[in-house]
Amino acid sequence: MLNWDEFHEDEASVAEQPAPATKPKPGALREKAVEDETVKESAGRYAAVDEDRLARARRSLEELDVAAGLEELEMGAARIEVDDKQMINARADLNQLVPFKYEWAWQKYLDGSANHWMPQEVNMNADIALWKSAEGLTADERRIVERSLGYFSTADSLVANNLVLALYRLITNPECRQYLLRQAFEEAIHTHAYQYCVESLGMDEGEVFNMYREVPSVAAKSAWSLKHTQSLARPDFNTGTTETDQELLRNLIAFYCVTEGIFFYCGFSQILSMGRRNKMTGVAEQFQYILRDESMHLNFGVDMINQIKIENPQLWTPEFQDEVTQMILEGTELEIAYARDTMPRGVLGMNAAIMEEYLHFICNRRLAQIGLKEQFPGAQNPFPWMSEIIDLRKEKNFFETRVTEYQVGGALSWD
Ligand SMILES: [Fe+2]
Ligand SMILES: [Fe+2]
Repeated sequence: MLNWDEFHEDEASVAEQPAPATKPKPGALREKAVEDETVKESAGRYAAVDEDRLARARRSLEELDVAAGLEELEMGAARIEVDDKQMINARADLNQLVPFKYEWAWQKYLDGSANHWMPQEVNMNADIALWKSAEGLTADERRIVERSLGYFSTADSLVANNLVLALYRLITNPECRQYLLRQAFEEAIHTHAYQYCVESLGMDEGEVFNMYREVPSVAAKSAWSLKHTQSLARPDFNTGTTETDQELLRNLIAFYCVTEGIFFYCGFSQILSMGRRNKMTGVAEQFQYILRDESMHLNFGVDMINQIKIENPQLWTPEFQDEVTQMILEGTELEIAYARDTMPRGVLGMNAAIMEEYLHFICNRRLAQIGLKEQFPGAQNPFPWMSEIIDLRKEKNFFETRVTEYQVGGALSWD
């Protein structure tokens, strides 16, 4: 409820107002009566600091080229029909959210918003004690925590910058943009979460945040993502031809299917496995919330890609399908290299070979989600508990659970 009194700048003068002559009926707008009295009291008691400046502002408005502004607005143009809306290259007014064309985009915006969380809500005390004790974690386990924070602390900034500086203006649909704005904020929360972990554990910030330029297995993934944002981020880039529309699709596949859909999965499963073993449970809880958000980002990206394909079938040529299959395989190989670097030996009930099968399983899923042929038929998921956490298909139930947990501030269960 709004407290109307907060809108009066001078509380004392309001308090001194005489009571209204007639008593307002219950439910009447009491603040309206007070406001009227305030206006009477203040009328004629003040003047503009600079009358000339005010006169100049009024003249400037008179001289303003209103006609050009109205043209921009298409004043009096026909109202938007749902059929005018398109994912890319739409000519419909982008300032009007409704009528909705893509209900899935609006629903994901609502579900994402219902899932709101902040890093400071997670208790990090047990992690700090474990991290600082000499026998708390093995050297291999410490390496996993450091590498994960090293990769993710910059990866989510890469994703956010791609969204805001490259992708956003090219997606010409208001309900999708509404979700992109929500996603951009979630990426900021994720970067905050990683920073919060690094700070809580007292890690060397310079070392962690520079890992994407100094540790080869981390740098290779970051460089691959950055390569796919460059052309769209150029100010003169625009869609509208087969070549440029395909370039936009490459960006979507590079970021949603590979960066958020493959590059996050080795680190997530390692840290969540640690949490299941009752180690670094605060960091693991942060990662679990992030993974839930990421699962939604991925599904949104897949829906966008498939919708663009439906509306622009000429883009999805056999050659283009070959090329993006190749991109997804490249991403999988980079993630396998990261798994080998972070797990030179078995650790936390996993090892690089098991992770490789998991990543082949994930690769198959990413390909299938956008209608491409699986490249590793028969690859199984060795970590079924990851699927339960991510719940690739049942995001609705998943978020309903989260909302309840958020409202009561309850802890997550690791089973
Ligand atoms: Fe993220
Ligand atoms: Fe994301």
